[in-house]
Amino acid sequence: RKKVTIQSLYNQHATGIPITMLTAYDFPTARACEVHGIDITLVGDSLAQVCLGYDSTVNLTMTEMIHHCRAVVRGTVAPLLVADMPFGSYYTGPEDAIRSAIRMRQEGGVECLKIEGGEEIVDSVRALTTFGFPVMGHIGLLPQRHTALSGYKVQGRTAESAHTILRAALALQDAGVFALVLEAIPHQLATYITSRLRVPTIGIGAGPGTSGQVLVWDDMMSTWHGHKAKFVRHFGNVGAEVGKGIQEYVSAVRDRSFPDVKKESYEMEQGEWERLL
Ligand code: KIV
Ligand code: NA
Repeated sequence: RKKVTIQSLYNQHATGIPITMLTAYDFPTARACEVHGIDITLVGDSLAQVCLGYDSTVNLTMTEMIHHCRAVVRGTVAPLLVADMPFGSYYTGPEDAIRSAIRMRQEGGVECLKIEGGEEIVDSVRALTTFGFPVMGHIGLLPQRHTALSGYKVQGRTAESAHTILRAALALQDAGVFALVLEAIPHQLATYITSRLRVPTIGIGAGPGTSGQVLVWDDMMSTWHGHKAKFVRHFGNVGAEVGKGIQEYVSAVRDRSFPDVKKESYEMEQGEWERLL
């Protein structure tokens, strides 16, 4: 596979081929994205819930994020690699953001950063892009602010709220983001924002009018036991496959049909068993 770069992403966007992005949190999922043609592999901070069992992304530390980034980096060659800046790692301003970005680049091996927020983070985004850190924006539903939002709710359903999101999109593009995630906003708004931007938009719960789509691995592979959002489609049924595998293993151990003494066990060397006795 050819290496995906920001330039090749722009070329793809210009020819109208939708961009595919998928989360990965470890080496095997990174390899799967690599081998099966995903354009962008995202080390999403959704790993807090689906991989580490936390309540929300707010609990994920920078050290934990870096640990997972290193595993994903080892399995990624061709896809563009993007990682979320964890909760709290960029809130006090550009200096904070740059320090965190340096850690993610040097310790995590991350190529590009994703950062949640609108006009309030524009100065930090501009500082990052000025120093050559490629940044992907993330607007609409911001999971790191779920408490203030009173839950994981669709954003931008009123004209005022939609306008705030549109202004954020334009300001972030102006600050130098190379792409923008639009999460859980009405499809009309996402399509309109996409038409107003030069940079590609990647939608999740934002309808079919964006430049690409992103999903959380565990949502689309049906390994997540919790809430299923309206926008999730189960493209794989890995959860059922795992259950079937475990049940068959347990029953084979219990009825002693596993392991088979010929096919799945080892023999002494010729004559050695008799010598031992
Ligand atoms: O953390 C994540 O997985 C994300 C995507 C859903 C965009 O931010
Ligand atoms: Na995220």
